[in-house]
Amino acid sequence: MARTSSDPYAKVHAATLKHRAQHGCGAWPYGNGPLLSTIAAASGAKRILELGCALGYTSLSFAHGAPKARIDTIERDPEHVRLARENIAAAGMDKRIAVHEGDFAKVLPALEAGYDVAFFDGHTPVPALHKALHGLLRTGGVLITANLNHGGTADAVHAALFDGKTWQSALIDEDGETAISVKL
Ligand SMILES: C[S@@+](CC[C@H](N)C(=O)[O-])C[C@H]1O[C@@H](n2cnc3c(N)ncnc32)[C@H](O)[C@@H]1O
Repeated sequence: MARTSSDPYAKVHAATLKHRAQHGCGAWPYGNGPLLSTIAAASGAKRILELGCALGYTSLSFAHGAPKARIDTIERDPEHVRLARENIAAAGMDKRIAVHEGDFAKVLPALEAGYDVAFFDGHTPVPALHKALHGLLRTGGVLITANLNHGGTADAVHAALFDGKTWQSALIDEDGETAISVKL
């Protein structure tokens, strides 16, 4: 997707692509930060949870869209954590965005439930993490799931998101990469 001048964090997006090319890691930046800003704004979010921070592009996008929100973002790669904290501080968002270093499965149990918005962008989605995200979101909270078209465990997550009982979901792109779901 082409970046436009309406994305205030286009430089962080570009820096993430450059970092990935140099280091060969999995820091693929999400394609549409302004969409995340808009979802955060529309939901009037006060608390946002992100799985997969990389260099901070999407947590900054959420913080931009919801000026009253605090964001918890999780990342296990120490170099990504360092660079994300640097980018977040440079954007003046370090009072609102907390970067938790560690594996998703280890960090999630320590978080308090009641999030308004959650974003999964940590490579291939897995059912156990989505179950934990369901528990951490408030009823009516919004879950955005990236990488749903990766196959493997992503197929089970896709089925759970469209079970019609625990989530109300829609795919938002033609290739089925991202779903937006509301916790029922
Ligand atoms: C696709 S990138 C996130 C991109 C970021 N949201 C953005 O748009 O710039 C996925 C990130 O999740 C991290 N990650 C993957 N699996 C993880 C896990 N089990 N626990 C913590 N971090 C993980 C990777 O190190 C990587 O930085």
